[in-house]
Amino acid sequence: MIKTIATTPYADQKMGTGGLRKKTKVMMQPNYFENFIQSIFNTVGDMKGKVFVVGGDGRYYNQTAIQKLIKMAAANGVKKLIIGQNGFLSTPAGSHLMLKNHTNGGFILSASHNPGGENGDFGIKYANETGGQVPTSVSDKIYANSKNISEYKIYDAPDVDLSKLGTVKLGDMEIEIIDSVKDYVEMMQEIFDFDALKKLFKSGFTMRFDAMNAVTGPYAIRIFEEILGAAKGSVTHAVPLPDFGGLHPDPNLTYAKHLVDFMFSDKATDFAGANDGDGDRNMILGRSFFVTPSDSLAILADNYRYIPAYKNGIYGVAKSAATSTAVCRVAEKNNLPCYVVPTGWKYFVNLMDSKRITLCGEESFGSGSSHIREKDGIWAILFWLSIIAATGKSVAEITRENWKKYGRSYYMRFDFEGLETDVADKLMADLENKLPALAGQKFGTYEVSEAAPFVYNDPVDGSVTKNGLVIDFTNGSKITYRLSGTGSSGATLRVYLERPEYKDLEEDTLTMLKDLLKIAMDVAEITKRTGKTKADVNT
Ligand code: G1P
Ligand code: ZN
Repeated sequence: MIKTIATTPYADQKMGTGGLRKKTKVMMQPNYFENFIQSIFNTVGDMKGKVFVVGGDGRYYNQTAIQKLIKMAAANGVKKLIIGQNGFLSTPAGSHLMLKNHTNGGFILSASHNPGGENGDFGIKYANETGGQVPTSVSDKIYANSKNISEYKIYDAPDVDLSKLGTVKLGDMEIEIIDSVKDYVEMMQEIFDFDALKKLFKSGFTMRFDAMNAVTGPYAIRIFEEILGAAKGSVTHAVPLPDFGGLHPDPNLTYAKHLVDFMFSDKATDFAGANDGDGDRNMILGRSFFVTPSDSLAILADNYRYIPAYKNGIYGVAKSAATSTAVCRVAEKNNLPCYVVPTGWKYFVNLMDSKRITLCGEESFGSGSSHIREKDGIWAILFWLSIIAATGKSVAEITRENWKKYGRSYYMRFDFEGLETDVADKLMADLENKLPALAGQKFGTYEVSEAAPFVYNDPVDGSVTKNGLVIDFTNGSKITYRLSGTGSSGATLRVYLERPEYKDLEEDTLTMLKDLLKIAMDVAEITKRTGKTKADVNT
């Protein structure tokens, strides 16, 4: 039986950089999740004949939320849902299923790299028929809808058993429960040369993959251990847990410190990688060596010819404005266009769909290609392994060669977390007002060449997005300031620093960025306004 339930709006259902993210307890408020889903359905309009993919990263509240979503979809007239077994799907696997099945989009229930559990975060990523998350024009409509919602529709029925593969029905709606891993693995086999990778492991090559107790464990075991022949136990923290076993599932130097320490110890394997909660982020490590995500993107772009899916050529590359310019230097020498977009994967979607780019990435441990419309953590690791297999070189050798060929961008991101929203907003507003006067100013050996907000004109749909403030220096260095759009409370100021060097390639990053950091702190008056003398997290 379909029930119509009266509800009252919540004022805060505005999507950020990657969907709607909130404290789990906020999401668990009466009708909160339902309001948001109904607002999406209301925005889409007629649900007849529509097909969606549904899954999640297994975090706390996933099971409850998926059942609500199923019942609401059935009540709203959706034709079919394709759901990962037990409600599990990584974000990249979900995007792939949306494209493969020509669906109208889908829902990945995840707060990505944010901690999970009852006291952690919960989130909803909503994608449309592109297989990528909806553009701001659509999320604005959903937000407007959520502020006026007065009722939602839900099927009054028992929960659907998501453990059994096959098709069941709820009312007129079909529910196909599929193996969460199978289609994704097949896609990876089409992109990469699995025989070459098997040979690599046969030759004694060792790796560690850290799934951070999140969704990629089963994908990684199937691919790395069962198919490619990496030693059993190569995949660690492989069982998805509702609270990620207390780990903060963000693969970076701070939150995957255990893996970094391991790779800098005498027990290190030849290669290591990690993924985040929903499997779209990646971290790459070699023996006593860390590859920055910006360098990783540049290296993938320089080595696409080793990958069967790209060997006949790629259209172009793209990066977010905050990402270092390393990939653009590679593109320039290879006569490829390099697009620079705002932070957030959704900005790459139009460029991929219009065949302007094939590879893209962000400094925030994300890289991917047009095989799907999300970033892809396991794909990035398979790409790296393929380069190693083809060249016989180590992670460190591959990275150093890239620096020699194209120069090295010393790069680091500094996050100032837990700020009061008003303080952060005022800091950004005042800084923006100050920018025009900065051009030509000297700070020690650094001279400002240009200072302005980053404004993106989408070449495909003509939309204009303003995101972040950028100070460029005459020596090629750059400071970018942005406020995070993925937090669930307060504000986080991100300060991104880049200094390209063509001679001194083996220096310590923090030392190389020391002066630039001081300029960044002083110009924005960070200490005076926030009380913080240093960042909470450096990545
Ligand atoms: C962060 C990253 C951004 C990424 C997003 C989703 O967003 O900075 O690059 O696309 O997570 O993974 P932010 O919190 O900075 O808005
Ligand atoms: Zn993620």
